[in-house]
Amino acid sequence: MTTVLETDGLERRFGKLLAVDDVSVAIDSDDVTSIIGPNGAGKTTFYNLLSGRLKPTGGTVKLLPSGGTELADITGMEPFEINNKGLSRAFQINNIFEGLSVTDNIRVSRISRDDRTLDIRSVAREDEGLTEAAWEIIELVGLEEVAETQCANLSHGDKRKVEIALSLGTDPSVVLLDEPTAGMNATETEKMVDLIDDLNRQTDTTFVLTEHDMGVVLEISDRILVLDGGELIADGEPEKVMQNEQVREAYLGGEA
Ligand SMILES: Nc1ncnc2c1ncn2[C@@H]1O[C@H](COP(=O)(O)OP(=O)(O)OP(=O)(O)O)[C@@H](O)[C@H]1O
Ligand SMILES: [Mg+2]
Repeated sequence: MTTVLETDGLERRFGKLLAVDDVSVAIDSDDVTSIIGPNGAGKTTFYNLLSGRLKPTGGTVKLLPSGGTELADITGMEPFEINNKGLSRAFQINNIFEGLSVTDNIRVSRISRDDRTLDIRSVAREDEGLTEAAWEIIELVGLEEVAETQCANLSHGDKRKVEIALSLGTDPSVVLLDEPTAGMNATETEKMVDLIDDLNRQTDTTFVLTEHDMGVVLEISDRILVLDGGELIADGEPEKVMQNEQVREAYLGGEA
């Protein structure tokens, strides 16, 4: 097992409210990890602390950089710095250029990793290295058949695949997914679950997700973290976490 992301006593306070309260967790590269919890539990805030959108008011975040062997302290860094280090985020921000083809979108995301300036000519002209890298990702994600389709014309399921493909463009060590199956039908959901599972196994990228659909959570997760009132109330394998009394109460309490 390799720890790819680690928080220690992570805290975010908004005035009197502790939205994330002393959360210490180490994410393992072998696992697909889901973060769940009732509304207002602190999931989005936790993500924002990891990705640098919000600064913690306490604690630390460490990340195993892409291709690195030692955890690096990323606490308080700017989002683009954290992204460059190897943590990327899909679905929250719409990164897709609707007017470009699938392949062109992936080439653009790749350029940012290679530390090249976004010069539109390098996208438009035949750049073999870039195209090869883009095709590797296209094959990984299974977008071969729509590779030259303009993104505006893709199905919802394929668009979401493109978002995953874009997040992979930078060769990240960790990808944070926000509700990857939101708005999908049963078939698309099943495919997305399989895709995330395959990618976690086949690539050096580790996937962490938030998800409201408990069916998806139970199917996809090797490990579940449960937040409630900003605190980490459970952490472990799905079966165990679901039997946890505090977790049951948090969920029933939320619905009651
Ligand atoms: N910018 C902010 N300023 C003040 N309070 C905030 C801010 N962002 C979040 N909060 C509060 O922090 C708590 C955690 O919110 P957060 O959005 O992280 O929860 P969540 O688990 O993502 O909820 P949901 O399931 O509804 O998306 C909530 O009480 C929320 O009102
Ligand atoms: Mg949220």
